[in-house]
Amino acid sequence: MSKIFAHRGCSGTYPENTMIAFRKAVELGVDGIEFDVHLTKDNELVIIHDESIDRTSNGSGLVRNMTLAELRQYDYSAKFAGVYGHNDIPTLREYFELVKDTPIISNIELKTGIHEYPGIEQAVIDMVKAYHLEDRVILSSFNHYTIMRCKAIDPTLKCGFLSESWLVDYGKYTASHGVECCHPVLFNLIPSVVEEMHAAGCEINTYTVNEEADILRLAALGVDGLIGNYPERMIKLLR
Ligand code: G3P
Ligand code: MG
Repeated sequence: MSKIFAHRGCSGTYPENTMIAFRKAVELGVDGIEFDVHLTKDNELVIIHDESIDRTSNGSGLVRNMTLAELRQYDYSAKFAGVYGHNDIPTLREYFELVKDTPIISNIELKTGIHEYPGIEQAVIDMVKAYHLEDRVILSSFNHYTIMRCKAIDPTLKCGFLSESWLVDYGKYTASHGVECCHPVLFNLIPSVVEEMHAAGCEINTYTVNEEADILRLAALGVDGLIGNYPERMIKLLR
């Protein structure tokens, strides 16, 4: 049975990557939550999708140029402004406080595609260990060097290579680097690709699965995890 992951929390119905979106996912009983991390100017791990706060907050600027206190001056309700009150930018610590006593798998996406944030891999792993969540995390990134750095720090932590490309031998490539999971965009998952990944021994977690037809097709293909903005829809269709 495919696992259900809430993408940026329940981001279809609540402000993405905020504590309310994560709390709703926990209440729904999802298998996992996916979210994105960046590093602030004062080295705090914060949860937000973009490098800048412009799209999802009422402020402006790059996360890496601002301290947590500066980032906390703004509301991160994005398109839900005024609907659910004020929403802060969460820290990774606050998120872990929410899920630490639940069975939820945390898919932490390290957003190092544009800024590398030196030290972010060690900081994330230190926090995972501080909360004893080693068995309930998947570290993923589009920057595969980031994942190799995570593996060098602790090869036992489950990791995933993200890609939006039609990579040849994606499964073999992933497994040959000692990485457990392929995290492809959903459009690339035709039966032969799913077969290749599974034959290589990889787990497949795909994004962003929102439409009913995609949810049903990918579950029928035996894809291990579906990451989507409407986990409530996936639960209704698959459970
Ligand atoms: O981790 C899956 C997915 O979140 C990757 O794309 O841009 O939504 O972070 P993006
Ligand atoms: Mg993401």
